Amino acid sequence: MSTASAPLPQFGPGRHLLSVSQFNREGLEALFALADLVEPIAQRRSVCTVLDGAVLGSLFFEPSTRTRLSFESAFLRLGGEVTTTTGVTFSSMAKGESIEDTSRVISGYSDVMVVRHPDEGSVAQFASASTVPVLNAGDGAGEHPSQALLDTYTLIRELGARGRDLDGATIAVVGDLRFGRTVHSLIKLLSIHDGITFRLYSPPSLHLPDAIAEHARAHGNTIIVCDSVVEALEGADVVYATRVQRERMTEELHSSVRGSLLDRERLEQAGVDQHIIIMHPLPRDSRHDAFDLSNDVDDLPGLSIFKQTDNGLLVRMALFLTALGCSADSVRATLKQRPWKAELDWELG
Ligand code: NCD
Repeated sequence: MSTASAPLPQFGPGRHLLSVSQFNREGLEALFALADLVEPIAQRRSVCTVLDGAVLGSLFFEPSTRTRLSFESAFLRLGGEVTTTTGVTFSSMAKGESIEDTSRVISGYSDVMVVRHPDEGSVAQFASASTVPVLNAGDGAGEHPSQALLDTYTLIRELGARGRDLDGATIAVVGDLRFGRTVHSLIKLLSIHDGITFRLYSPPSLHLPDAIAEHARAHGNTIIVCDSVVEALEGADVVYATRVQRERMTEELHSSVRGSLLDRERLEQAGVDQHIIIMHPLPRDSRHDAFDLSNDVDDLPGLSIFKQTDNGLLVRMALFLTALGCSADSVRATLKQRPWKAELDWELG
């Protein structure tokens, strides 16, 4: 895990975001209040220029679609500008430049950086040499804090819509629990809530690292390891599925994991309510025989995977506002109506 030896400070103005351990309940509530506030801006019903003149350095050394684009869109929605580099091949790291040198250089061109890198602990290394806040967009099999934050935000909203609290919820977590960094961060972050029961299912070779399970237990939550997806679904309010992280394992290990992970048949077999909240960090592997969430659940009312992606924009906007010390009032002060869209009644079809 990307945890330094000394505890990381709570996330706030001028701070790096490396791990979900930087949030307590109070910090989470403040972040989510900001996320609620910016929803009309994310939906392009109004325009905000609070980050006028600010520059984001967006550095993705590993494949990404939604994380990069939602971080960049979040910054643009707040009136900032974005500079970006993707892949090692097109950066000077291909010439042997160190993480520290790259970080120092890009931080001279930016007010905040978002970094994804294939090595666990590498984003903390970036942060150690940066003169501006660095937000971890995924460090190998380590952590993915912004994903866990948007997942938690979505969980609170979806459970709330069903008259339920996150405290006391039962959450089935299925798939690649060993290499899936979103699951590592999510279980750690949810552990600051009370009375959560995690029902885990993964093939034996892809079990959750003991340290994460211990973390949840040490915070008074319950971990139940199940032998099948159907067993994991028993009594669950939510099921969170993950893709097999093929890029982090041998071909031999990958080829041992085949067949559908979660599909309609298994949900029916488990007898779950058809409104069960179905989540996945995406991308899901929709190829034939991929061990992942099947597309045959897509018309179920509880499917929340695209709510997660939409909410990702709000939560990432809130992260930028927090890191750059912008208050709710400063956002309100730069809000403008957006007449061109309001006046057009767009009908797509
Ligand atoms: C995840 C990641 O990169 O860890 N994707 C994402 O950021 N939403 C999950 C994955 O790649 O399986």
